[in-house]
Amino acid sequence: MKACVIGHPISHSKSPVIHNYWLKKYSIEGSYSSIDVSKEKLEETIKDVISSGYTGFNVTVPYKQEVIKYCDELDDNARIVGAVNTVAIKEGKTLGLNTDVYGFIANLKKTYPDIEGKKAFILGAGGASRAILHGLLEEGAASVAISNRTQEKAKDLALMASDKVSPIEWEQKNQALGNIDILVNTTSLGMTGNPPLDINMEGLPKTAVVSDIVYAPLMTNLLKQAQERENKIVTGIGMLLYQAAPAFKAWTGVMPEVTEELEQEVLL
Ligand code: ATR
Repeated sequence: MKACVIGHPISHSKSPVIHNYWLKKYSIEGSYSSIDVSKEKLEETIKDVISSGYTGFNVTVPYKQEVIKYCDELDDNARIVGAVNTVAIKEGKTLGLNTDVYGFIANLKKTYPDIEGKKAFILGAGGASRAILHGLLEEGAASVAISNRTQEKAKDLALMASDKVSPIEWEQKNQALGNIDILVNTTSLGMTGNPPLDINMEGLPKTAVVSDIVYAPLMTNLLKQAQERENKIVTGIGMLLYQAAPAFKAWTGVMPEVTEELEQEVLL
C-alpha cells in the first residue's frame, strides 16, 4: 500500500498515525504520508499521485468537494453527500468514497446502537453535517432537526429529505431540545482556539445521547455539560478512527480493527 492524505493545512492530521499503525499491525508492506497542497498546486499534485503508483489517498479540508472532478466513479455516499474523503486507484482509474458517513455512524452505534425511529438534532450545516445527516437518515432516524448560525445553509441541507429534516433558527436551538434522542455538534465551536458552544441543555431528555465531532479537546464543554447531567456521550475521536477503517480496506482488502490501543496512540 502506498497512500497519503492531501489537504491544507495538514500538520494536524492524525491519518498517518492511524494508517501506519494498521500497516504494522497487519504486517502489510507500505507507507502513508501527508502532503500539504495549496489550491494552485492541487490539480498537479492529484494527477501526480494518480500516475505514480499510489494505491489511493485521503482528502481533507478544504478539498473534499474539489477532488470529485478527479474521480472516474463515486460510491453512493460520496455522490449523495457531495464530498469525497477517500480515493482508491486501480489501473489508473479513481473511485471516490465518502467514509465519514460510516465513521460517524459506527462510532455512535458503539454507544447508542438503535438509531431507527429516533429523533436527532444536528448543530452546524457544513461538510461534516451533510455526511452525518445522510448517515442518520440511512439508519432510519424518524426526524432530524438542523440548526446553523447561517440559517440558509440549514435550509439547504434540509432539502436532502424535506419530509424528515427541519431547519431550526440558531437562536431557537435551546427550545428545540425537548424530545430529542440524539444531539450532535458538527460546528467548530468547542475546538481548541475557538469559543465553546453556548447551549442550555435543560430541556434535553436525560435518555438522549450527546455526540461531538470535535476531538481536540476530547472532552469539549458540550460533552462535559452532558456528562454532568448524566446523558450518554460520544467523543469525536472515534469518528476519525472509524472513517479510516473502510479507506484502509479499500486499499489493502483488510478491514482493520479500531481498538483502545489505537485510540491512545492517536491521542498522544
Ligand atoms: P466541516 O466540514 O467540519 O463541517 P465547515 O464546513 O467549515 O466545516 O463548517 C463549520 C460549521 O461550524 C458551520 O456550520 C459553521 O456555521 P456557519 O455555516 O454559520 O459558518 C459553524 N461555525 C463556525 N464558527 C461558528 C461560530 N462562531 N458560531 C456558530 N457556528 C459556527
